[in-house]
Formats: sequence, C-alpha cells, structure tokens
Amino acid sequence: MANENSFTQTLTNLFVKKEEEIPEEYRIGEVHQKEYLINGEMRAWNGKVTEVYSPIMIQSAEGPKRKFLGTYPVGTEKEALEALDAAIAAYDNGRGEWPTMSVSDRIACMERFVYKMGEQKATIVKLIMWEIGKSYADSVKEFDRTVEYINNTIDALKDLDRQSSRFAIEEGVIAQIRRSPLGVVLCMGPFNYPLNETFTTLIPAIIMGNTLLFKPPKHGTLVHYPLLKAFQESFPKGVVNTVYGRGADVTPCLMKSGKINVLAFIGSSKVANDLKKNHPKLNRLRAILSLDAKNASIITKNADLSLAVNESILGSLSYNGQRCTAIKILFVHKSIVDDFIKQLNEAIAALKYGLPWEKGVLLTPVAEPGKPAYLTECINDAIANGAKVMNENGGTVAESFVFPAVVYPVNNKMKLYREEQFGPVIPIVPFESLDEPIDYLIESPHGQQVSVFTTDAKEAAQLIDPLVNLVSRVNINSQCQRGPDVFPFTGRKDSAEGTLSVVDALRSFSIRSLVASKMNDVNKDLFNAVVKNHDSNFLSTNFIF
Ligand code: G3H
Repeated sequence: MANENSFTQTLTNLFVKKEEEIPEEYRIGEVHQKEYLINGEMRAWNGKVTEVYSPIMIQSAEGPKRKFLGTYPVGTEKEALEALDAAIAAYDNGRGEWPTMSVSDRIACMERFVYKMGEQKATIVKLIMWEIGKSYADSVKEFDRTVEYINNTIDALKDLDRQSSRFAIEEGVIAQIRRSPLGVVLCMGPFNYPLNETFTTLIPAIIMGNTLLFKPPKHGTLVHYPLLKAFQESFPKGVVNTVYGRGADVTPCLMKSGKINVLAFIGSSKVANDLKKNHPKLNRLRAILSLDAKNASIITKNADLSLAVNESILGSLSYNGQRCTAIKILFVHKSIVDDFIKQLNEAIAALKYGLPWEKGVLLTPVAEPGKPAYLTECINDAIANGAKVMNENGGTVAESFVFPAVVYPVNNKMKLYREEQFGPVIPIVPFESLDEPIDYLIESPHGQQVSVFTTDAKEAAQLIDPLVNLVSRVNINSQCQRGPDVFPFTGRKDSAEGTLSVVDALRSFSIRSLVASKMNDVNKDLFNAVVKNHDSNFLSTNFIF
C-alpha cells in the first residue's frame, strides 16, 4: 500500500506546477468558439456554451486541476433544424449545385479544402493533444493520416469516374452507369480519433455529392473549429452544416424528420440503435456504423512469446487502449501463461508514461473524466471474483492517469470478460483448448477483429477458417488495427454496419444510377449530341486525367 501511494504521488507529480514549465511550442491559449457554420454563413452564437477541460492537469494550491481550454456553443433543436433545412436546400432533391456538379469540379473543391486544412495543421494537432490527451507524436500522425486519406479518396474517385466514363452495351441496350449521391447525411465521429475517424465518413460523403450535417464529437469539438472556414470557403453553401449541443437533445428531431438519408456514426451500438429507431422511414435510411468492439487475442502454446508480448502492448495500450480496434481481452494457453505475464509485466514497467508532449511517451492521461473510476470498478469487480492485478503499480490512478493493469485469471463472472473497457486494463483468460476462445467469440455480441499468435502453420490454418466467419479481420502474429486505410474496415454483429476503406466508403455514400436506352439510330444520335455538347455531367465521356 505504501508503494502504491508513493506511485500515485509519482504519477501526480507528472503534472506541471505552472504552464511556463510546458515547452512553449506545446502551450495553448483559450479557444472560444462563438460561431457555427450553417448554409455557408458563420453565424454568431450568443447562447449557452460548453466549457472544455483537458485531461491534462496543472497543479494548483487545491491539487491538480484540468486545464481550461475554452468553450463552444450548446446548440438547440432550433439550430439543428436550421442546419437540416440548409442541407436539404443545398441538395434540392438532387438538383442542387453540389449533387449535379461534375466529379472533376467536386474534386477541385476538395483539393482546395485539403490545402486550407494544411494551413491549420499546427493548431489542430495541438487541439487534439490538449482535448483528448493523445501524445503529440500520435496527434501529428492523426493529422497526416487524415490528409493522406483525403488525397487517396480523391485518387480513388478519379479511378471510379474513369471506369464510368464509357457506355455499356448489353442486349441491345446502351447505358452509362455512375455512382450518384444519396441525399442528406448526418455525420458523427468518436472522441478517440476526433479528426481522422470523423473524416473517414465526412470526406467520402461530401465528395460523392451529398450534403451534410456534421456534429463533432463530445471531446474533440474544438479540434474542428479551425476547419469551419475552410469548409465555408471550399464548398457551395449548405454542403457542410454544423450541429452542436447534447446528442440526446439535438439528434432525435433530425432523425424524426425522416429527412436524413444516411446516418454515418462511430460510437456505441446503443446510441446507433436509438438514432435509427427515431427515423420514421427506415427503408430510406442507409446506416454506416462503426460500433462497439471487444477484440480478443489468442496466444497459443506455439506462439513466439516476445513477439506476442510486443504486439499485445501495442494492441492493448496504444493511446491507453482507447481505440475501437484495441485488443481488449487476451486468451493465453495455460502452458505459457506464467511466462507470458512475466514478460508482459517487464515490458509494461519499461513503458514511458508522462505528458503528451514528452518524446517517446506511450501512456498519457485518459480522455474521459469518468474513465479512471470505471476502470477501478472493473478491476475491483475482477478481484472480488478471484483475479489479481499481476503487475507492479497496475491500476494505480492519479487524477486522469491510469497505470496499465494486467488482470489475471479473468472469467465469465467479471465485467472485464464482456465489457469494452476502452482503457489501459489487460484482462487475461487462461485456456486449455482452442475451442474456449472460439466459444467466447461465438457468444460475443461483437465481431470486429481478432489476433492469433502462433508459429505453427497448421494451427494458424485451423484457426483462420472459423475465425474469418466470426469477425471481419484475423490478424496473424500482429495486433488488431484499422489500417492500412485502403483495406476494408468493418465488423460483424453489433460491431459495424457497412464497410469503410478509401474505396468502400465512396460506395457506401452513393448509389449506382444509370441512363439507359434501346439502341436505335434516334437514341444513338441523341446520346452523341448530349456528349458532344457537354450538356450533362452524368451522361458524359469526359475523362479525368
Ligand atoms: O478507434 C478505432 C480506430 O479506427 C482505430 O484505428 O487501428 O488505426 O488505431 P487504428
């Protein structure tokens, strides 16, 4: 206990005594967002605001205090419905400037946006770090990965358009087939990748010609403020409209209107269900969802232990385990579990913990204010049901810091067996037969990914065949992860609906439409005339180089 207390103090002491101790390039001033974007206008906001506090604390006479970062509007139903009206008007039943614009002109707008986004890099990276406690290095990575995603999306759309710039002739019918937009999209991203994951739906939704209601995540809202002007200046009015306020207050009216055509949501399956249920015409609603996950890792007796330890650290503890793709439960064969835990504990003890701007830091304060108490509750529940914290200082909490806990042996009576902890706790279940982890996955409500650690090809094959039908990605001797972003990212059961990747997302936010005609001289002449005169953006053989 004495040790634990002194380690709590060590963690508490990580927080700086005064802001001047923070290297100047990482300091941040208060940001007060007093405007919001609707119908191409930055409208002034004089109503209630949400105060934003960082998970990063500063010492004070009363103990460490969350740094105050600024404020943003608490919108109401009124502004949400105004945003909806603007998006509907800009779409204009598919007749608006944006949905009828040529693909090359839409790409030009997106290129303008990505250029303007680049100008805001330093501000956005700092906001990611301060708002959600992500390390500076990972915040930079999040920004760069997003820019790359946008550029890859532009390239993928060029390819798609090139394939569509020709006529198809079948059974005496001539046709041109293209992908066209779906309508108004409500887009909501998560706090853990507030920029990147939000943009993996928002960007393809826009570029395919839809119009948008964009509600930034609860933590990571200010991150988007520097981009509102870029949206305003890059796209026609009404294409991107912002929605602020508590989700429970402002989203039901949007869904109940029946005028949302696509719900793009990354968050919990419960919230996704509630949102969908509010829509009066479910058949008209397309949902692109990335939801709960409890990815398991299966470490067999044939695993390369040191590799399994390294990947388990990355899989469970990158960004403190606050990733939907994180490994959230480990099944380790009984014959190697003691060695595995010993090596894992040593590796954890060597990890760098500290404030997000420190070089090489892996463990940083967790983003959600209630998370340390929740993780402690999970650990205590496991202890009450027969588990132990296996590593030194495991589970020690100091304000927003939670030191990783290795919890063993975990069984089905414990919260950690089923709940998605979304934090730095590593539950380990010993197993004898490979049927045990497979049965776990069969019973699990989740089906995103799994990791398998083995050096035995026969064993790998024996696991791969059933596992690919239980989850959507089987990682061999590698942690679970979303990237590379050109690979399909999805999940089974309650983990996802629809597939995202650079290419899949373009399909998810569009539908195939075609212009077709019986092939006779009159129709051939008519098609040729339209194409020759460049009168239509759809019926066109223009080729994007
Ligand atoms: O939170 C879920 C993210 O999509 C995970 O992405 O695997 O690249 O960290 P990542």
